[in-house]
Amino acid sequence: MRHEQIEKNVNLMMVLIVIAISIGGLVEIIPLMLSSDATDPDEGITPYSALRLAGRDVYVAEGCYNCHSQMIRPFRSETERYGPYTTAGETVYDRPFQFGSKRTGPDLARVGGRYSDDWQRLHLIDPRALVPESNMPGYPWLADRMVDPELITAKMKALQTLGDPYTDEQIAAAASEVEGKSELDALIAYLQGLGINRRSRR
Ligand code: HEC
Repeated sequence: MRHEQIEKNVNLMMVLIVIAISIGGLVEIIPLMLSSDATDPDEGITPYSALRLAGRDVYVAEGCYNCHSQMIRPFRSETERYGPYTTAGETVYDRPFQFGSKRTGPDLARVGGRYSDDWQRLHLIDPRALVPESNMPGYPWLADRMVDPELITAKMKALQTLGDPYTDEQIAAAASEVEGKSELDALIAYLQGLGINRRSRR
C-alpha cells in the first residue's frame, strides 16, 4: 500500500512533510505580503525623524524590548489600558519591529505624550525616584553619550534606498537635527512619538 511505503521510507516522508508545511506556510504568508492593509502605512504614519530614529536605535541597543512590548492586542483588557490596538499599517517603518513578547513593564506602543519630557528624563536616569516599587534599571550613562550625526545621516540614506519615503532635504537636515543631542534626548524623543499619530484609528 502507498501509505505503508511512505511510513517506512524516512526520506520520502521528510520530503512530503516539507512540501505539506511549505504549502501551509505560503497560504498564510503570501496574502499578507499582497494585502495593502499590512504593507502600506496607515494615515498619518510617516518615517521617523532623525532624532527619533536615533532614539529608536538606543531603545534597541539597550534591550528595552526585553521588558516592554509595543503591541496592543485587540482585547478589551488591553485597549482599555493602553488604547486602540496595534495595526500592521502603523509599524511599516519599524525595522526591525518592536512588538516584543515580554511585559515585565507596561506596553509602550502609545506611551507618547503620557508623561512630560522631564518625567521621562528622571525616570530613565533613576526609575525608583518616581516609581518606588519599580524594578526597571536606570540608564544614567545615556545622558553623557552623544548621537553621531554622520551615522544617522547614513542610516536615513540606507532606509531611503530600502523604500522609506525620506526626502533629500530631510536627509540633508538630519545632521543638524541631532547635533549636540545626547542619546537620552533621542530616546525621550522616540518615546514621546510612540503612538501619537495612531490614536485616531481603531
Ligand atoms: C527589567 C525590565 C525593564 C527594562 C529592561 C526596561 N524597563 Fe521600562 N519599565 C519596567 C517596569 C517594571 C515599569 C513599570 C514601573 C515604572 O514605571 O518604573 C517600566 C516603566 C517604563 C515606562 C513608563 C510606562 C508607563 O506607561 O507608565 C517607560 C516609558 C519605560 N519603562 C521605558 C523604558 C525604556 C526606554 C527602557 C530601555 C532603555 C526600559 N524601559 C527598560 C521594566 C523595565
